[in-house]
Amino acid sequence: MKKIKVMTVFGTRPEGIKMAPIIKVMENASEIDNTICITAQHREMLDQVLNLFQIEPDYDLNIFKPGQSLTEITMKALEGLEKVILEVKPDVLLVQGDTSTVFAGALAAFYQKVKIGHVEAGLRSGNLYSPYPEEANRKLTGILTDFHFAPTETNKDNLLREGYSIEKIFITGNTVIDALQYSVKEDYSFQIPLLDNIDYKDKRIILLTSHRRENLGKPMENIFSAINQIALEYEDIEVVFPIHLNPKVRQIANKIFNGNRRVHLIEPLDYEPFTNLMARSYLVVTDSGGLQEEAPSLGKPVLVVREETERPEGIEAGTAKLVGTNYDNILKEIDILLSNQKEYEKMANAVNPYGDGRASERIVDIILKHGFSKKQE
Ligand code: UD1
Ligand code: UDP
Repeated sequence: MKKIKVMTVFGTRPEGIKMAPIIKVMENASEIDNTICITAQHREMLDQVLNLFQIEPDYDLNIFKPGQSLTEITMKALEGLEKVILEVKPDVLLVQGDTSTVFAGALAAFYQKVKIGHVEAGLRSGNLYSPYPEEANRKLTGILTDFHFAPTETNKDNLLREGYSIEKIFITGNTVIDALQYSVKEDYSFQIPLLDNIDYKDKRIILLTSHRRENLGKPMENIFSAINQIALEYEDIEVVFPIHLNPKVRQIANKIFNGNRRVHLIEPLDYEPFTNLMARSYLVVTDSGGLQEEAPSLGKPVLVVREETERPEGIEAGTAKLVGTNYDNILKEIDILLSNQKEYEKMANAVNPYGDGRASERIVDIILKHGFSKKQE
């Protein structure tokens, strides 16, 4: 029996996390032959994910360079992927999300007239510069895509509004929920002294992450200053901030938090300890995309420190709030959640607008059904 040749391409931590459950389902699909190609736009942060999910790439373009520019990532990925696509000759190439790797992957496949499946399709903030350059990457990828795997109804509507044909859009849920179900465990023990030693009963944990390009500079200083002030004011608060490896983020964090003993600046955590820490946190403050999907599913209020979001579902469900990057506003919003139990309870509801943990199965089923069809010209 001839198998469907899939080529799975990813490059950063979040793409790895969200692609891993699909790879696992494909491993058990005898009709699919999957080739994994990583650009390694991220190195250490992607390797953490590969180790956890025991994924061994067939091709590693190893393009990472500290301080890499958007142009460098895109060019190196495009060039490397062309060679691999010509060698593998896939029926379908899968990309996930909105990074430079995703756009380069879709473009490389398009140039060879290979069909493209876009996982996490149809997210839109409506502002090309926020998140930057991700909103553009999503739209550019969308134009080239044959199978839009939209996590939610809202994402599907965005695509329909842009004129994409309904036959090419599939609502699947977000595979991040599949990954989350794999990693969060009630009896989890961290085996990381700092995290094991936190008094989760008497302390309230604020989990902080921030890395967005458009927040670098003053907006990020505002976010960190507000959190720093909160940690000075509330004695029962411990802030845990696993800092992204971007030195620009680290520089701002070191400057603003400057030895505050209730703020723990730590290295990026593996996905398992990270999500289990989220499950034990009181509150999440973040500009990350993935965390906006994970926190609602775990019933954790999440304050989104951005001006726009392409993930309105958590906000509509009441678990997430878009609070911007103004110092006074962030301080006010955290203050409310820490001092007003009623307001906190209103937000602390486990809701699951991003899926039921079966998105990967749905995506693989669709590939099985349509994988051999010819690319429409
Ligand atoms: C990228 C994605 C962003 C995604 C984020 C996930 C683009 C344009 N951006 O942003 O959409 O939300 O990944 O984290 O694709 N670094 C390391 N080691 C690593 C990873 C990063 O040292 O393993 C440092 C390097 O100095 C690098 C910098 O972080 O230059 C930025 O990495 P880069 O991939 O360019 O952008 P991100 O901000 O990580
Ligand atoms: N994450 C992780 N370790 C960390 C911080 C985040 O494993 O120290 C996970 C998190 O659970 C989520 C993903 O990384 O699934 C989010 O990645 P990131 O914030 O880098 O990118 P974004 O989602 O904003 O694109």
